[in-house]
Amino acid sequence: MNDSLNKFLSHKLDILLKADLKRELNLPKITNKQIINFCSNDYLGLSKEKSLIEAAYQSALEFGIGAGASRLISGNTKLHSDLEIEIATFKGTENALLFNSGYDANISTIAALMSKPDIIYSDELNHSSILSGIKLSDANCLNYNHLCLKSLEEKIKSTRFQYRNALIISESIFSMDGDMADLKALISVAEKYNCWLMIDEAHSTGLFGENGAGLIKSLKLENRIPIQMGTCSKAFGCQGAYIAGNNLLIEFLIQRAKTFIYSTALSPAICGALKQSLKLISTEKWRREKLFENADKIKTICKNLDYKIISQDSQIICLEMPNNKIALKAAEFLLKQGILIQAIRPPTVKKARLRITASTIYTKAQINHLASNLTDLQMALSGW
Ligand SMILES: Cc1ncc(COP(=O)(O)O)c(C=O)c1O
Repeated sequence: MNDSLNKFLSHKLDILLKADLKRELNLPKITNKQIINFCSNDYLGLSKEKSLIEAAYQSALEFGIGAGASRLISGNTKLHSDLEIEIATFKGTENALLFNSGYDANISTIAALMSKPDIIYSDELNHSSILSGIKLSDANCLNYNHLCLKSLEEKIKSTRFQYRNALIISESIFSMDGDMADLKALISVAEKYNCWLMIDEAHSTGLFGENGAGLIKSLKLENRIPIQMGTCSKAFGCQGAYIAGNNLLIEFLIQRAKTFIYSTALSPAICGALKQSLKLISTEKWRREKLFENADKIKTICKNLDYKIISQDSQIICLEMPNNKIALKAAEFLLKQGILIQAIRPPTVKKARLRITASTIYTKAQINHLASNLTDLQMALSGW
């Protein structure tokens, strides 16, 4: 029995290796102090912020490091409830519900809301967690061309009448391309064709708008997008996620979202850190300003070196690579010079790329080091 399992596993791994698609856990490399991490989603540098660590410690002392059970059994604390109220206020919605991760929030929310008689219209480049949620929901799904409202509208026009409820899902800033969805236009289409709208703000929460609440709030659209999702694992520098919306939505998810009901509550220590993170995000505007200043510097460097940048809309800067092998070789080349930038390959994306993320914490010297190595890489690429 084990023989056949091992044979199956070796065969599958071999296929990935031959296609330059095998992934590696590179812990030994990133613990090396010489390495500068240019691909983390810790956009505002909050993951190592002392006041967050202290808040986590104090919360753990008071409530425990682990919640001990799911929220509906005995894992609910005042910290969880207070944090949800603070997130709802931050987002400008009636209510919010915490999940243990963005992946959890997406799969359970979509699966709770949609079922067989329904249809989901999903941007073709939506994150894997959205795709998993769609699959789990058992609803019908049509992917529309990336960011293409014409494609979305065509699909809705020809199919909407056949189904009970319909949901349009998109990210606000796309995680692997860095481009921005036209939220106002998505709302217009949703309202015109009687579709619900869900927006994943994993890569815009904490970064966009006057208080960092995200792209939706910065465009004053918080009352027109009924299902708003965001992660606490990226700009917040911690872990977890939320769904924000009205009281009815949150009450419904408490009854039906499986990863909320059947999973141990988010650690009280993390909740404490998140409260502090939210406070800093709302009050320390300089973090966002520095992040986008660094993003602009990196984009200028890449443009001047003639790299093909997939999009310039955000802090996520992706450089197209000719194929998987060269993408891996380029990442390895940079790593040798102390720069960690991952090669992103299928199935995460359609075409291989190097994904650089800006962060508040990069220094001038670190960005100069990146510039000189991207110059060397560009020369090397022409010979590969
Ligand atoms: C767009 C998007 N949604 C959801 C997630 C999942 O979030 P988390 O890492 O908190 O599980 C990610 C994370 O990579 C993401 O990029």
